[in-house]
Amino acid sequence: MRIFSGIQPTGRKHLGNYIGAIRQYVESQERGDPAIFSIVDLHATTVAYDPAQLRTNLYDTTATLLAAGLEPDRCVLFRQSDVPEHTELTWLISAVCAHGDLNRMTQFKDKSGQQKDLVSAGLFIYPLLMAADVLAYRTDEVPVGDDQRQHIELTREIARRFNERFGETLVVPDHRIPAIGARIMDLQEPNRKMSTSVGADSGRIYLLETEKETRKKLASAVTDSGREVRRGEGKEGVANLIGIYAVATGKTEDEVEAEFEGAGYGDFKKAVGESVVEYLAPVRERYPEIRADEAGMERILAAGAARARELAAVTLAAVRAAMGVGVPRG
Ligand code: AMP
Ligand code: TRP
Repeated sequence: MRIFSGIQPTGRKHLGNYIGAIRQYVESQERGDPAIFSIVDLHATTVAYDPAQLRTNLYDTTATLLAAGLEPDRCVLFRQSDVPEHTELTWLISAVCAHGDLNRMTQFKDKSGQQKDLVSAGLFIYPLLMAADVLAYRTDEVPVGDDQRQHIELTREIARRFNERFGETLVVPDHRIPAIGARIMDLQEPNRKMSTSVGADSGRIYLLETEKETRKKLASAVTDSGREVRRGEGKEGVANLIGIYAVATGKTEDEVEAEFEGAGYGDFKKAVGESVVEYLAPVRERYPEIRADEAGMERILAAGAARARELAAVTLAAVRAAMGVGVPRG
């Protein structure tokens, strides 16, 4: 089965990225034939950004993925802009994507509201580039967090429309959203997802922060005025911590509630802190050495891009032929 996912080279990756997405990437290397992962630098140009910072962020994200357990021999890891088939396919599939569908995207509404100077056309067609990322590989399955659900739904709709209009060419992909941890919430504002761009640092756990910072943030996570460690109405903060602890320890949420029956929030939050510190330790330990070797990462990305281009080229040839553009196939 073909597995594909993309991740933005923006800022520092947080616990939501790890639990919602990255840990699934690592697991899917076993099942993917192949599993393909792209660091989507072109998506990062759709909002205000600094070119030099983008390069730094790209290495940070690449090193994070490698430290988390992606292995270049077991997956295809590449930089999106190294594979021009993605941008070409973006244009081609725009023929079967309704303007009105793009207009309904909630991520566009959120992000366009945050822009100070310019809402770029790129931000509007961001979901088309994402659909092209996925469709270029005739992907069966896309591991993502819950916030990408609407984008994957649009990708499916585009594939269906394309096949209806031009004949069976593209694969309609499924999303793979984890049962626990698909939406990790901000620790200070548990009604909002943990995000790189919104809210204070105290609300998010960075994968590469110190153990002390992680413990401190979890110890001061917002809970509620009650005293029971369980999920429920008005208990979003506690429910979020239950989910995090469950993932970090490999337990179910029911088991976590049973384990902390009668315990106070203070003890519970301390246990969550310890579990997360331990959970992230391997990534934190492996990262510095990998990050120091930029030439090594470039070699991995170049090999990945060569492999990705071979796969994407096959789809692109079929798409061009179906649409009647380019030199006729012999
Ligand atoms: P991004 O860094 O925006 O490219 O996101 C990378 C992946 O992390 C995507 O699959 C997102 O769905 C996932 N993700 C982002 N934030 C969260 C969150 N708070 N909880 C769970 N998954 C998330
Ligand atoms: N839009 C995704 C995010 O913000 C990143 C992404 C780009 C992606 N292309 C993709 C995810 C293709 C899955 C498949 O998280």
